[in-house]
Amino acid sequence: MSTDKCKDYCSGTGMVLRNHYFVILGGMFMVYVIFTMSGTHDTFSANTLQASNMSSGIMKIAKYLKPEFVFTGTRDNVQVLLLTYMRSGSSLTGDILQHSPGAFYVYEPLHSLGNRNPSKFTIKFANGTLSSKITVVTAVPALSANVTSIDNVESFGPIPVLLLTYMRSGSSLTGDILQHARGAFYVYEPLHLIQQGVVHDFPLTHPNGRIRKPPFDFAEVAYDNLYNWFTCNVTNIPVLGLNDAFMRKGLKSRLFTLCMNDIHGKMVAKNAINLCARQLQAACENSPFRILKTIRLLLSDVRNLLEDLPNLKIIHLVRDPRATLYSQSLLGRCSQKEGGRNGCTSKFCKRVELDVLEEERLLKKYPGRIMPVFYQDIAKEPLKTTQKLYDFIGAKFTQEAQEYVYNITMAGNPDDCSICTTRSNSSEHIDTWKVKMDPTFQEIVNDRCNYIIQRYNFDNRPTT
Ligand SMILES: *[C@@H]1O[C@H](CO)[C@@H](O)[C@H](O)[C@H]1NC(C)=O
Ligand SMILES: *[C@@H]1O[C@H](CO)[C@@H](O)[C@H](O)[C@H]1NC(C)=O
Ligand SMILES: *[C@@H]1O[C@H](CO)[C@@H](O)[C@H](O)[C@H]1NC(C)=O
Ligand SMILES: *[C@@H]1O[C@H](CO)[C@@H](O)[C@H](O)[C@H]1NC(C)=O
Ligand SMILES: *[C@@H]1O[C@H](CO)[C@@H](O)[C@H](O)[C@H]1NC(C)=O
Ligand SMILES: *[C@@H]1O[C@H](CO)[C@@H](O)[C@H](O)[C@H]1NC(C)=O
Repeated sequence: MSTDKCKDYCSGTGMVLRNHYFVILGGMFMVYVIFTMSGTHDTFSANTLQASNMSSGIMKIAKYLKPEFVFTGTRDNVQVLLLTYMRSGSSLTGDILQHSPGAFYVYEPLHSLGNRNPSKFTIKFANGTLSSKITVVTAVPALSANVTSIDNVESFGPIPVLLLTYMRSGSSLTGDILQHARGAFYVYEPLHLIQQGVVHDFPLTHPNGRIRKPPFDFAEVAYDNLYNWFTCNVTNIPVLGLNDAFMRKGLKSRLFTLCMNDIHGKMVAKNAINLCARQLQAACENSPFRILKTIRLLLSDVRNLLEDLPNLKIIHLVRDPRATLYSQSLLGRCSQKEGGRNGCTSKFCKRVELDVLEEERLLKKYPGRIMPVFYQDIAKEPLKTTQKLYDFIGAKFTQEAQEYVYNITMAGNPDDCSICTTRSNSSEHIDTWKVKMDPTFQEIVNDRCNYIIQRYNFDNRPTT
């Protein structure tokens, strides 16, 4: 077929080469899915193209795709569907793809068909046949359905998820499980350095040039910070937070660090930060699930977020207070300086009590938006409990995620503590405190945390 002939068939721009066939479809979110008709697919996001250096962005995309079908013409008849959304950089991406050797490319073949009601129009095929049955149009919902089943997000918009919990409560593991939901953008402890900055009255600078000066109200700074992450307003996140080493713990948030390392010394710091923040912003915007974990806030601190972000879901992770306090004490959290065992126990139990009471109020006012989760359920029944977590936020528990959860909780891989995301046998480690915790200390916690232990039934929790 020649380029001229293509004009008979194609409504948009086309280019005839040899073996490969690419198609682009348009829609809403900035994520590309490239299908081959054999059913395999690759997903990648638009931010790879928005780097300052376009050619390095293109090289990244080339790596995402199977190199053998992008850069060599060795396979016959590889059909590739680039399924994506309006304003997602698809023209550029399609153009990149069509320059692979042997590509035959059709730009938006459904453009003029998609808007019409098939029952009212007859289509004249290039071979002269008239038909009112447009099989190609009916293919659209089927393909879209396959993509939207990746997550339930299309009709609701992005889902912000807050994992609110306490030190030594299994939150690293739980956060890591959540960030393996497809389409997740995860930030581990976004307030970690910012809290210290606020305590020491450091002025907060932002990638967009804004400077916020003390005095600070931590609750207010925290609220803004969470809100900006959830809405992907990354250029408005304090630089202190972006430079936090914890950013490396998020599979996508680490892009900021990588970007900064990449362009280190190539431009003035201010511009580098702004550029990398914008790149991260694109990665965030492309992600339907925006997940933050914090051990630094009370439920009452985030109450207003439930109003301001109508899709927000809160996962309240609680671990048996005896296990938490035993583990905290190993880190020196119950030293004399901290008020001893009585001091740390009292402080911790008071805080969880406040959250339990607030949770009861919020569950009534915002049913379906807060979920208490117990670390022992995750540790003992990782797959079952993860399924519940994913259901709660509306994510699909893919085969890959299941395998990942299995690997990090049950596969016998070496523990990677001290901030653990991998347990060789999470079920085994969960009850360690029962053997190792000093009975006097247990008594102190039983006494002071009595309400929480009863309320959440920690002594008789059936394994779910
Ligand atoms: C852009 O990236 C490419 C590939 O990584 C590299 O070869 C080139 O030198 C870069 N150009 C600039 C201007 O940094
Ligand atoms: C023309 O193309 C249409 C659509 O592919 C097909 O249904 C029809 O059988 C073809 N007609 C002839 C005469 O080849
Ligand atoms: C979409 O899903 C349907 C039903 O599960 C399946 O028959 C079809 O092959 C899928 N299409 C693609 C392109 O994966
Ligand atoms: C980001 O936050 C700033 C300050 O609150 C606001 O002016 C701006 O409109 C926000 N941008 C987006 C894209 O929401
Ligand atoms: C799980 O572990 C196996 C064996 O180490 C590895 O081959 C596989 O890629 C891992 N899967 C995931 C999803 O991490
Ligand atoms: C993990 O430890 C628990 C408790 O000791 C034991 O019942 C279970 O069989 C172990 N699981 C694996 C996969 O070794």
